Amino acid sequence: MSSSLSAPSIKSPLLTPDQSLSLWNRRILTVLGCGFVLMSLAVFADKGVTGEAAQLSPEGIEGQIAWRQHNCVTCHQFFGMGGFLGPDLTNVVDRIGPETVAWVLRNGRGSMPKLDLSEIEIANLVTYLAEMNQTGKFPPNDWPPKWFPDADFSPDTLPAEGRE
Ligand code: HEC
Repeated sequence: MSSSLSAPSIKSPLLTPDQSLSLWNRRILTVLGCGFVLMSLAVFADKGVTGEAAQLSPEGIEGQIAWRQHNCVTCHQFFGMGGFLGPDLTNVVDRIGPETVAWVLRNGRGSMPKLDLSEIEIANLVTYLAEMNQTGKFPPNDWPPKWFPDADFSPDTLPAEGRE
């Protein structure tokens, strides 16, 4: 039998000619595998990402209805999802307090339109935002880190020319 008919030898960086992993490759794959499992556990254990399901009171549910009727999500986000004209509102109640939230809803501010909401709607929206605030933290784990340029997303810290 001529040698040209024998199977070509496979040259792979991971496999030895007899197709079994060398001891070093096993070690490298074990380290990578453990790293992958630990990373996955860390991501799934992160409260800021998984959060809690919103526990809405009757007023909170009314607030959610007003949120949808007035299309707040076209300009605002929860957990980074939504429109991007206005800021993320996941933790707005923590950030500026319920009275200021009500004030902005009543009067508008900058590019935030005055929406002619009733006082009941404003109270319900504040309750809804306060209950959404309990569901988690965004951005999670202060990402991007504080040392990163432009790390603070709050509209209060935008340079003057960035505000309207
Ligand atoms: C047309 C886009 C638009 C819509 C619709 C809109 N907003 Fe806004 N909103 C903005 C912008 C832009 C700002 C930032 C205003 C500023 O820079 O002063 C803002 C600011 C806010 C703030 C203050 C945020 C902060 O961090 O100080 C709250 C609270 C808020 N909006 C709630 C709502 C709610 C609730 C609705 C729906 C009833 C709504 N917005 C609908 C654009 C919008």
